[in-house]
Amino acid sequence: MENVYVTGVKGMLGRAILPIFGERYKVFPANLEEPDICDTELISREICDCDPRFVIHLAAMTDVDGCQTDPDQAYRINTLGTRNVALACQRCDAAMVYISTGMVYDGTKENPYTEYDRPAPVNIYGDSKYQGELIISDLLPKYFIFSSCWLFGGGMEDKKFVAKIFERAGKSSELKIVDDTFGSPTYTTDLARAILAFIETGLYGRYHCVNGGCVNRFEVAEEILRIAGFTGCELKRVSSADFPLTAPRPRMEALRNYNFELLGLDLMRDWRSALEEYIRTALL
Ligand SMILES: NC(=O)c1ccc[n+]([C@@H]2O[C@H](COP(=O)([O-])OP(=O)(O)OC[C@H]3O[C@@H](n4cnc5c(N)ncnc54)[C@H](OP(=O)(O)O)[C@@H]3O)[C@@H](O)[C@H]2O)c1
Repeated sequence: MENVYVTGVKGMLGRAILPIFGERYKVFPANLEEPDICDTELISREICDCDPRFVIHLAAMTDVDGCQTDPDQAYRINTLGTRNVALACQRCDAAMVYISTGMVYDGTKENPYTEYDRPAPVNIYGDSKYQGELIISDLLPKYFIFSSCWLFGGGMEDKKFVAKIFERAGKSSELKIVDDTFGSPTYTTDLARAILAFIETGLYGRYHCVNGGCVNRFEVAEEILRIAGFTGCELKRVSSADFPLTAPRPRMEALRNYNFELLGLDLMRDWRSALEEYIRTALL
């Protein structure tokens, strides 16, 4: 069995990557500790000691508003931390897998972004992730950048949108949900399977990797209530202007798996069926 090293293994995507990659690779760190990616020497040693074929780099500062209020920490982790991981890959000749985001685009497009649209981030999180992309493509010959969007997953550990709707719909008779920002909700298990299936091809480069669809948060919340059978809670459409956030958000974050489509390799299903499977198997 070949070795794979995963940074950010305890995060939401890491929890999906672990069992899926564990079927085909020996996954490190075996103790599931998360060594600080900002420590250049430490992360290089940790990665190279296990002689990985692939390094799946998930560790990131993902709190978008937190990145806006502490840009130094955002660039330290998301950009320079990514550079440290890339340098380790260079040193031990591993292929790097980086997960980027639809927030690298400015959100002014009317339909989902492809890999050929020009990044122009509107917030620090998006920029710090984009600078990570640039560093990887500058430093490495062997890398995959998979950009994704609005991840859901994690089951009982879920603290993101699906879990919040579950919790609040159980307590309130009305929920206000914004209907004017758009994304591609994507199941972490589907993303992990797609990454596993694709990295063996050796077709290095940038790929968008999302479940099919372009929807607003209101539509996602509606679908969650339908699948879960919550009937006692009414959803009310509101504008994002009613919920001012610290970091500006792009209006459009949805992605299209255009490179996969061109290769005839887009295996990602529609977001509704992925969400239904997640809720039925992990939350109900
Ligand atoms: N969630 C989304 O919707 C989404 C969409 C597109 C792309 N992505 C990207 O996908 C990747 C995984 O996202 P996720 O949702 O799984 O994130 P997550 O749940 O926030 O997990 C990130 C992990 O990285 C760890 N980490 C943070 N700083 C670190 C450091 N300096 N050294 C080592 N580990 C550190 C965190 O540990 P602590 O919790 O202890 O800080 C956490 O376990 C990220 O690169 C993210 O940018 C996410």
